Amino acid sequence: MKVEKAKISDVPQMHQLINYFAEKDEMLPRSLSELYENIRDCFVVRDGERVVACAALHVFWSDLAEIRSLAVAEGSQEQGIGGKLVEACLKEAGELGITTVFCLTYRPDLFEKFGFAKVDKMELPRKVWTECYRCPKFPDCDEVALTYNLEV
Ligand SMILES: CC(C)(COP(=O)(O)OP(=O)(O)OC[C@H]1O[C@@H](n2cnc3c(N)ncnc32)[C@H](O)[C@@H]1OP(=O)(O)O)[C@@H](O)C(=O)NCCC(=O)NCCS
Repeated sequence: MKVEKAKISDVPQMHQLINYFAEKDEMLPRSLSELYENIRDCFVVRDGERVVACAALHVFWSDLAEIRSLAVAEGSQEQGIGGKLVEACLKEAGELGITTVFCLTYRPDLFEKFGFAKVDKMELPRKVWTECYRCPKFPDCDEVALTYNLEV
């Protein structure tokens, strides 16, 4: 199973996957319209026609992007797929010339394995908070912020 850029036809399955975990409070929900608008951010892993995992790299500014909406279907977890998606996002960030990638997550352990380091959420630029204002949990966010530095 390989990581590929998402296609429009993947969106309904990505929507289902992300919101399945969002309902369990494990990640933030995404609407269909957000996913269609940001389709170029997204990567998927497919098993035949089925989307078993997804993630997105969202650019915020000249030096900053976020890995978001990382989800691996329950039957496909613990096989390295989540890790491969993180690597694909970091590779794309490097190709774009982005120097810092951040994530807000309940699974900091996974990101730490790839060299991310925990930071105080308040250290993230204010620009990223535009997303947070729309989150049902704002301002009592309990996700952990981590950053990865791609500068040589
Ligand atoms: C968090 C999540 C994305 C991880 O995806 P995953 O595909 O299971 O991740 P990986 O397989 O790369 O890594 C998970 C574990 O499996 C281990 N692993 C990786 N490849 C493996 C393999 N071939 N065999 C056995 N274990 C393996 C990893 O070392 C890691 O171990 P750890 O739990 O001790 O850290 C997935 O659990 C998920 O979608 N959860 C619900 C939504 C969520 O929490 N999303 C994150 C929001 S940022």
